[in-house]
Amino acid sequence: MPDSPLSQAAFQEALTLFPGGVNSPVRSFASVGGTPVVFSRGKGALLEDPDRHKYLDFVQSWGAHILGHTPAPVVRAVSRQVRRLTSVGAPTQEENHLGKLLQKAIPSLERLRFVSSGTEAVMSALRVARAWTNRPMILKFDGGYHGHADALLVSAGSGLATLNQPASAGVPEPLTSATLSVPYNDLEAVRAAFLAHPGKIAAVIVEPYAANMGLVLPLPGFLEGLRAITQEQGTLLIFDEVITGFRFHWGGVQTQVGVTPDLTTLGKIIGGGLPVGAYGGRKDLMDLVAPVGPVYQAGTLSGNPLAMAAGRAVMNQLTRPGFYEAIADKAERFFETLIHRLDPTRYYLAHKGGLATLFFAPGPINNLTQAKSSDTAAYARWFHALLEQKIFVAPAQFEAMFVGAAHTPRALRLAADAFLKALDAK
Ligand SMILES: Cc1ncc(COP(=O)(O)O)c(C=O)c1O
Repeated sequence: MPDSPLSQAAFQEALTLFPGGVNSPVRSFASVGGTPVVFSRGKGALLEDPDRHKYLDFVQSWGAHILGHTPAPVVRAVSRQVRRLTSVGAPTQEENHLGKLLQKAIPSLERLRFVSSGTEAVMSALRVARAWTNRPMILKFDGGYHGHADALLVSAGSGLATLNQPASAGVPEPLTSATLSVPYNDLEAVRAAFLAHPGKIAAVIVEPYAANMGLVLPLPGFLEGLRAITQEQGTLLIFDEVITGFRFHWGGVQTQVGVTPDLTTLGKIIGGGLPVGAYGGRKDLMDLVAPVGPVYQAGTLSGNPLAMAAGRAVMNQLTRPGFYEAIADKAERFFETLIHRLDPTRYYLAHKGGLATLFFAPGPINNLTQAKSSDTAAYARWFHALLEQKIFVAPAQFEAMFVGAAHTPRALRLAADAFLKALDAK
């Protein structure tokens, strides 16, 4: 942007340091064109670039923030903790504090382990599933993104959906040949996979609300069907709740819809914006993990005290009466305003609580093939028109937007007008 010289200069410098100038590909503007804005501060729903422009932020660290940027309780907790202990390489009480809260909110976490990212959580949960079942294969869904572990880079969503890479280079075929991928919301395809590979599938891993091909919600009976099939087949069901955990209520989608997986992966919100992940589930399964059992998984910074303190500070806010209702109410009003004014032959707004995607395609969108019918060039024009108006949405069609506690109803009213106006951008 011509009026942001400091941001531009910082990005040019980043290009000399990092591949594509970024430390994670979804931050690049590869699918919308142009140069990423470099940010230097955040408060609530607003981000600020080094040129002092303020942006209304709907990315919210890809969902890691539900209270907005630098909320006072997190700042206080991290400041306090940083003076006490930052990393120790031995157990801390902080791990227990956050662990207890997670276990209380999601009772299927009979035992859990903290790691440092969602990728690690998923990778470790799959290792447990393979060890328990003594089976090699994993079943995932097209457009489901579960981090960048080798075995999962098959028909993955998010950056990969956007960049249209079916998989990553550098991943040897034997590492993905045990991964099956079938369309989301298609129980027949799941049954067919089990028929084709009898006794071979260790786990089915699913985002209970898929949010990495844009937001795609499960059709009635889909999650229940997965539970029934996996139970019948002696296969573990893993809910990847890295995005959905604590997003809609104090717990996971599993505690809301009443479908209990064997293992769960978490990340984002539970670390309050600091690096964190967690996986857990039935005690007998988690007792396979070292030092109790033979599944090795470790981490220098696992259960990091700063991340634990930040996570606990966030958790304590989430239990305040009416917290989620307030987000759902204002988000619903915002999304319904848009839906009433959108041309349904051209747009489809998928939404749930504070999570949404505006697809540049008519609905319904129930799987990756339908999501991919979107007009991504039109999305790119919309994105840039919004950026001009200092509104930051995901720089890619196949992502979600996040409305959290910090978005005020007034900001959302103004954003609704801006969203609709930006659709006319040429
Ligand atoms: C559902 C899901 N699982 C796993 C991951 C990987 O998490 P991380 O980026 O922390 O490694 C993501 C990241 O966006 C995700 O959305």
